[in-house]
Amino acid sequence: MRRRFASGVIETEHGSSHRSKSLIESLSYIEEQFADYLVYSGLTPEQIEGKQILELGFGDNVGVALKFLAAGAARVVCVDKFYSSRDSQREREIYLALREQLNDRERSRFDEAIKLDEGIKFDETRLRVINGRDLEQAAAMLISEGVEFDLIVSRAVIEEIFEPKEVFKAADRVLAPGGLALHKIDLSDYGIFADGGMHPLTFLTIPDWVYRRMATDSGIPNRKLIGYYKREMKELGYAARFLVTGIVGRDPVIPHKEQVEFGADYRTETMALIERIRPRLCRQFRELTVEELLINGIFLVAQKPEKRATSAGSNRESVI
Ligand SMILES: C[S@@+](CC[C@H](N)C(=O)[O-])C[C@H]1O[C@@H](n2cnc3c(N)ncnc32)[C@H](O)[C@@H]1O
Repeated sequence: MRRRFASGVIETEHGSSHRSKSLIESLSYIEEQFADYLVYSGLTPEQIEGKQILELGFGDNVGVALKFLAAGAARVVCVDKFYSSRDSQREREIYLALREQLNDRERSRFDEAIKLDEGIKFDETRLRVINGRDLEQAAAMLISEGVEFDLIVSRAVIEEIFEPKEVFKAADRVLAPGGLALHKIDLSDYGIFADGGMHPLTFLTIPDWVYRRMATDSGIPNRKLIGYYKREMKELGYAARFLVTGIVGRDPVIPHKEQVEFGADYRTETMALIERIRPRLCRQFRELTVEELLINGIFLVAQKPEKRATSAGSNRESVI
């Protein structure tokens, strides 16, 4: 992927989430993502009105962006480092079906952002799509244009960035003071080992130098665990909540919750499963608590501080 990207080929099948979905499944996937962003952030549809939103790693579909626009967002900018290949006929069908589900008010906002008479045409002042640039590059461009966001969202993206630190810094540069970042992050091995019947933490046994080669620009998860994200948010001075979305070897935790409990969310079997592989884990994982090792997905809700020396002068209203 890295070599292709460097030679200017940005198209990949990675991120083509809708390819294997029926129309109904696509609609419900879009609905689920949008609902998750609202439910877990506590944002109401009224609070979306007039907001500037950035979606990172949107994949092969801007359905979530259109939902935000229909709810009253002023503008959504979608940034993806790659271009996820897609069937544009099917993409158009998804947007048309999405439009059908809206009430009159939402539909007229939807129509301001996208024209579907012939193909798919976005109104760039409402919905701007940037492919082929990572967030660091896109942020530099957006900042030079004076763009600032109230809300940044992503799903299944951060874990694919081998070292997300620079991405968090770039997101911080384009996020307004008091703005919110919502990232759903999968901390599992994406099934690379687990689906083959191996221990779900086998990926944490691979030596760093090998894993770096496996997981850089390859769509393979970065194997950062919850503690890493806690440290990153602390370093940025964000007020952050970490909702657990999954536990090793168990069904997803729905609704996601901040505290998972022994007995209710996991039992002795999960602890035994973790302890079984502990001696084989790479050094940086071996000493981690069982509570950290068992969390295999998070929904991060982080708020940028209102006041910071670098943000002086901004008079934007806080999202929440
Ligand atoms: C697993 S897909 C998820 C797509 C979509 N968010 C979804 O939930 O269906 C990951 C997406 O992140 C994009 N991506 C990977 N690395 C990225 C980066 N450094 N900056 C922006 N997008 C990136 C990929 O191109 C892909 O579209």
